[in-house]
Amino acid sequence: MRKLNISGNWKLNKTLAETKALLAVLKSELAGVKKTEIVVCPTYVSLATSAEMLIDSNIKLGAQNLFWEESGAFTGEVSGLQLKAIGCNYVIIGHSERRQYFGETDETVNKRLKSALQNELLPIVCVGETLEEREIGKTFDIISEQVQGALSGISKDEMQKITLAYEPVWAIGTGKTATPEQAQEVHAFIREKLTKLFGNSVAENVTIQYGGSVKPSNAYELLSQNDIDGALVGGASLDVESFAAIVQAAENIEG
Ligand code: 13P
Repeated sequence: MRKLNISGNWKLNKTLAETKALLAVLKSELAGVKKTEIVVCPTYVSLATSAEMLIDSNIKLGAQNLFWEESGAFTGEVSGLQLKAIGCNYVIIGHSERRQYFGETDETVNKRLKSALQNELLPIVCVGETLEEREIGKTFDIISEQVQGALSGISKDEMQKITLAYEPVWAIGTGKTATPEQAQEVHAFIREKLTKLFGNSVAENVTIQYGGSVKPSNAYELLSQNDIDGALVGGASLDVESFAAIVQAAENIEG
């Protein structure tokens, strides 16, 4: 059984003071969680303080992006080397908001992924189709292209460190969740694709999170699906009770 992973993507929310307040409550609220991997991803400016606050806790720290060069004349960028140095464990790569607003492509996702691995960060690579792509029957083509593009040149060993997140763009921040069946169908497709690329034993061990309007009311049903191994939570991760309830749903899954 794959370990379930519930990650909070805080996006562009919370000042440093608000981050500290939220983390303090989350730490005590989630202290008893044993089985589920918990990750929070605040903004860059709060990461160093968050890392200090999360030492000796069961909550891991992630960044929301990284640049592929380690240092140099790249004004405004943050590198994997720097993230690792302050104690980040995870990094989200290729979120649809970065693809949509910041020109991220499968090629740049791949560069960031390689840099994350080189710096011993655990990558969470996001893929997902838009509403238009779904409506014209292109979902599987798009997912296949994104998975293949992101993972180009990745070895079997490296694949074992990578988490994938299926986030249908039409379900992000819209309140419209994919049904558990819709999500499972794409997750199974992704695992099949991983089997072709890396073999069955690697594919069976890859954690594939679902993201898109995950909340306490739908988390258990989504997480009960065979190929859904966690959630990448946006809005609901900003509220202690909602996030804790989603983590609890993961804890309640048998196995
Ligand atoms: P919401 O949970 O707010 O829909 O966001 C999902 C997401 O984009 C997580 O990365």
